[in-house]
Amino acid sequence: MKIFSGTSNKPLAEKIAHELNLKLSPLEIFVFSDKEKRIRVLDKVLDEDTVIIQSTSTPADYNYMELFFIADALKRSGAKSITAVIPYLGYQRQDHVFRDGEAVSLAVIVETLQTVGISRIVTIDLHSIKIPSLFQIPITHLSAFSLFAEKIKELPRKESVLVTPDMGGIRRIKILSGYLGNIPYAVIEKNRDLQTGDVTADRIEGEVRSKRAIIVDDMISTGKTILSAANLLREKDAGEIYVFATHPVFSENAKQTLEKVRAEKIFVTDSIFLPKEKLLNNLEILSISKLIGNSLK
Ligand code: R5P
Repeated sequence: MKIFSGTSNKPLAEKIAHELNLKLSPLEIFVFSDKEKRIRVLDKVLDEDTVIIQSTSTPADYNYMELFFIADALKRSGAKSITAVIPYLGYQRQDHVFRDGEAVSLAVIVETLQTVGISRIVTIDLHSIKIPSLFQIPITHLSAFSLFAEKIKELPRKESVLVTPDMGGIRRIKILSGYLGNIPYAVIEKNRDLQTGDVTADRIEGEVRSKRAIIVDDMISTGKTILSAANLLREKDAGEIYVFATHPVFSENAKQTLEKVRAEKIFVTDSIFLPKEKLLNNLEILSISKLIGNSLK
């Protein structure tokens, strides 16, 4: 097996290669002055199983194009199979038509991934469980919940409640509650203005008073969902707040918004590489390299 990395998350790719006792195979990625790229595979891959690691996080279009070109280069060099490990699948939230006239961006992405010769996808904590059924090729959908459950078990004993900051997360929270011996959960009804992106946490179902509240979400983008959930939890007299989210998209002013959450700790994974300027004092990054490495063995 030969393993290649795009440029979006090299540290994670190196860790995954290490899990497999492999080194990353060399690629030439030349960027022209107009920012177009020329990609060349520098290893022999004829009849080899190959893997590309590339998170299609911000800038999603740029990272997707890089992934498509690496796949094309591998295909033209005779690779037997091409597995794309896409820890964060960009455009996953645009998986259906929300309002008349909209593009289904994810459908375009899925079609292109298949057209460039990718034979299998490995990804983690997709926004919707319906997404794998959009693919004609096998897709391995992993979850970071085992990592989250371990961390939650390490917290000092205290009455706790899992909280999903929107109705779409009920399935997720039930699974995590199962990992933790069926601890109780609460559900927030959130609304987002599609024009402005503003979020309001309108209502909560479930008992949170004086309990440690553990908010769980698939991703943190602007941080507005987590902040509005935390504000509502405080209004309802919840105790300390912890946050767990798989994908640290951290767009716009996420760092400043998350500071306002005043959480004891925010746990995310390394599905997306975070530069120093996006790190927070109370942030802990859990690595998904073992989970992915195991799925490739
Ligand atoms: C939405 O349905 C997702 O599960 C996340 O809650 C959302 O994408 C987070 O976005 P933001 O951080 O911008 O509120």
